[in-house]
Amino acid sequence: MNKQLSLFDDDANAEHDFFARKRKWSVAKHRIILKYLQASCYNLASLSDTINYIDGFAGSGEYEEGTIGGIEEFIKKSYFWKRYEANFSDKDGSPLIALKTARILESENRVNLRCFFIEENRERNQKLIDNCCAVGEGLDYKIYPPSGFEEILNRLMEDIKRDSNKPCPSLFFLDTFSPNGVGFESLKRIAEYQINFGGELFILFHNGYLSRQVGNAMSKKWKEQGKTTGDTFAKKVDSFLGESSKKAWRDKWQEFTKSPAQTFAKWAIEHYKQKLRDECEFKGVVSFEIKEKFNSAAPKYHIIACSRYPEKAFGIFLNDMIYEENKSLFFQENVSKSVIKFLEKEWDKENQDQLDRITLYLDSILADICSEWTKLDDAITKLILTLDRESILSLGKLKRKQYRAEVFIPLYQQGILEAESIGKNGQPRLTDRVRLR
Ligand SMILES: C[S@@+](CC[C@H](N)C(=O)[O-])C[C@H]1O[C@@H](n2cnc3c(N)ncnc32)[C@H](O)[C@@H]1O
Repeated sequence: MNKQLSLFDDDANAEHDFFARKRKWSVAKHRIILKYLQASCYNLASLSDTINYIDGFAGSGEYEEGTIGGIEEFIKKSYFWKRYEANFSDKDGSPLIALKTARILESENRVNLRCFFIEENRERNQKLIDNCCAVGEGLDYKIYPPSGFEEILNRLMEDIKRDSNKPCPSLFFLDTFSPNGVGFESLKRIAEYQINFGGELFILFHNGYLSRQVGNAMSKKWKEQGKTTGDTFAKKVDSFLGESSKKAWRDKWQEFTKSPAQTFAKWAIEHYKQKLRDECEFKGVVSFEIKEKFNSAAPKYHIIACSRYPEKAFGIFLNDMIYEENKSLFFQENVSKSVIKFLEKEWDKENQDQLDRITLYLDSILADICSEWTKLDDAITKLILTLDRESILSLGKLKRKQYRAEVFIPLYQQGILEAESIGKNGQPRLTDRVRLR
């Protein structure tokens, strides 16, 4: 008899021991959340005295064991972060990271970061309460009683509007184990709030899990056995991708039956992103892979980020944050884990490959980006976002500095671009305006 396809392909998200030890790929997500929260709060502080952070799949707040090279090492090495005495720990889960960030923002009198945590599992919910207790003392935070994100959503949407002068920008972080916890209709409600009051949405996308769920939904064995299990899987996929995708995912699954397994997965994430643009009206929707190793064949998961102001949110903040995460994969431990070396040659090759790829498409893109006088800084942002949108190069593959030094300055030196003014070194600065000759 056919065995049901396992929904968990490896231990990346195996629920039972997820909080026993923090994995490298969870650290990457935490560093990004920490940096993004700070950058976004600094940026929005002049517009609002309160900012909401909603952790819809909060977990227990703390892992039993951290990971070496985790958040503590990042803080130690960062000039910016080590100024703060926030006691970030390698064991911190996303809720504690948010509360410690809120404490920093409070101590600077910068902004009130209000935190809302939802955790369905009863035991983890209790641990979350215990773990937040000391860290969050005196801070503005709320933990909902154990219940699913969608069951809490009505209350949450009321709560985030309350108690501040006016509804404030809200960053939603939906860190699900699987595609089942949040349906597309819920995302539309979040997006509607953000159209009116601002904020961004980060959602984990488990590509492999979704494909296996679709595989189970479409498996002939359910029909042969007259079971309803296939329908249950199908309903979950319908809810995740949204009603308007009912036909599309079924058709694509049939169309790709003989294609490599990743073909459907790649279609699914691009389809989902397009829906977020079209149906939720996000101006910018980007995704990036979180991998275990730089040469891993498949990512552990993707993070999708959605914003109405992608220029600053993604082109500036997120791009360089993801770049740093990509680079960190090129530090490799030896077998005894006693020495860490940087894989210089591999990293240089990776960078060169990205630059070669851009060169292939640059002519056609430049006309859109700088046929009019454009500040070099803005031209870089536009190029980053265009490359990502056109699936030429995803966000964070090169740093902003590299776009300037290795793409735009050579174009200026070759006379393809002209500059209204230049710096002492004879090159346009980020504030100088450039255009195609
Ligand atoms: C990936 S873990 C969260 C990890 C956490 N964000 C962190 O970074 O420390 C996902 C959590 O969501 C919880 N969960 C699963 N389904 C849920 C649902 N429908 N609503 C709320 N929480 C849910 C799980 O119990 C689990 O603790």
